[in-house]
Amino acid sequence: MLFKKSIDSLIAESNESGEGTLKRTLGVGNLIALGVGAIIGAGLFVRTAAAAADHSGPAVTLSFLLAALGCALAGLCYAEFASMIPIAGSAYTYSYATMGEMVAWIIGWDLVLEYAVGAATVAIAWSEYLNKLLENFGVSIPYAFCHSPFQTSIDGVQGIINLPALFIVVLLTFVLIRGTQESATINGVIVILKVAIVVVFIAIGWGFMNPVNHVPYIPVNAGEVKLYNGEQSFMDFFTHDFGKFGWSGIIAGAGVVFFAFIGFDAVSTAAQEAKNPKKDMPIGILVSLAICTVLYVLFGHVLTGVANYTEFATVGKEASVAYVIETYMHNYHWLSILITVAILAGFSSVILVMLLGQSRVFFSMSKDGLVPKVFSTIHPKFKTPYKSNLIFLVFVGLFAAFVPGDVVGDMTSIGTLFAFTLVSIGVLVLRKTDPNRERPFKTPFMPFVPILGAAVCILMMIGLGKHNWERLLIWMALGMVIYFAYSIKNSVVRKKYKENNKSSE
Ligand code: ALA
Repeated sequence: MLFKKSIDSLIAESNESGEGTLKRTLGVGNLIALGVGAIIGAGLFVRTAAAAADHSGPAVTLSFLLAALGCALAGLCYAEFASMIPIAGSAYTYSYATMGEMVAWIIGWDLVLEYAVGAATVAIAWSEYLNKLLENFGVSIPYAFCHSPFQTSIDGVQGIINLPALFIVVLLTFVLIRGTQESATINGVIVILKVAIVVVFIAIGWGFMNPVNHVPYIPVNAGEVKLYNGEQSFMDFFTHDFGKFGWSGIIAGAGVVFFAFIGFDAVSTAAQEAKNPKKDMPIGILVSLAICTVLYVLFGHVLTGVANYTEFATVGKEASVAYVIETYMHNYHWLSILITVAILAGFSSVILVMLLGQSRVFFSMSKDGLVPKVFSTIHPKFKTPYKSNLIFLVFVGLFAAFVPGDVVGDMTSIGTLFAFTLVSIGVLVLRKTDPNRERPFKTPFMPFVPILGAAVCILMMIGLGKHNWERLLIWMALGMVIYFAYSIKNSVVRKKYKENNKSSE
């Protein structure tokens, strides 16, 4: 049987924690700002260059469009899911009430990839830009101490530990433990700052583009040509050449830059605070996605126009935006410093939001008995789940210090894409199994939107390649072991069910 949480008990819980009293104050403008604020980060300022260098070349712009399509479709499903349960929460909470404990566990466990591993990715990006900033003042951290042991510099120096990445995770964890008031003003300033640097870079960089860098726009993939001419089988192509530029490179690049869109689901989690959720939520999601997509496409076009995409595999691999300005946009040294400072501030806010999201999900899972109680122990003074924060400090810190940014970035992408796929399929299934439940927001064009949404997400997952699938499978297998060894024995919902059955005997 499916063990589900009743929606009434969810609402009661949210009242206990004060969540039920959230005021409906957010208008459509606030929702869009919330979305844009959560979205722009390391994905744009670091992963764009990586996608161009390894997969799509200048056509990274098309990768952005594909990733945006997947997000828009999955986002519409997310909005229906969120609106069915009228409380603030995450995909974990919604799925527990609608699809049962096991799916909820899978999603909750998978969200660790989105939040905790995502935080490590942004921390590593933070380290790259910090280095660039320090260089301006004649200081530089030795390569070995700002890179993982799996990285080697162009001159053959091997990394040992990424200390700046570890530092920012430690610092922000303590900020979190002290209890952050999510200040709307600071958030507003950071959103404006982030959008401003993207717009300024596009506007000034446009004049420095060298048309030669955009030719060919879609670099040729020799395997695709052979496949087209019938000189290679599909399997051979798939195992050897898929994703290395050409059309398949655009798909692989989309999987990588998908990271840049993560966070727009923040809009749907604010459902309870929206003045008019029915109308404003889909507008909030779609408009913030649309604004970011336009900015991202233009940004990708300028970045690969000013420098050649091949440079992002070598000298321009790290802190690519600062590299491009300093190397090609002479007289704009000041802009590079300004942008770098703004990027560091922007990244910090993304890391904070991700760490906070992680502790919230595990807090709920702990209250439900699916993970140990330590994840919901509250600090007597600061009223924050400090033990959970400290445990995740170790987890995120290890990734930030010892794993390369490419690896954690793609793990975050594949994990989040998997969650989006499940949500899309879930919405479709629920229309059949639970047709009468009230849905303040309904996904339009059923069943095409969820089917297409899941298909585009799976396509991007395929684009991320074998190693990322292996990592995802290992992570989910580990999750299943914990679920069967611990969670089903401690599940509060199951315990209550047994008690009720006993008392009725
Ligand atoms: N979208 C967020 C970023 O790019 C996670 O940093």
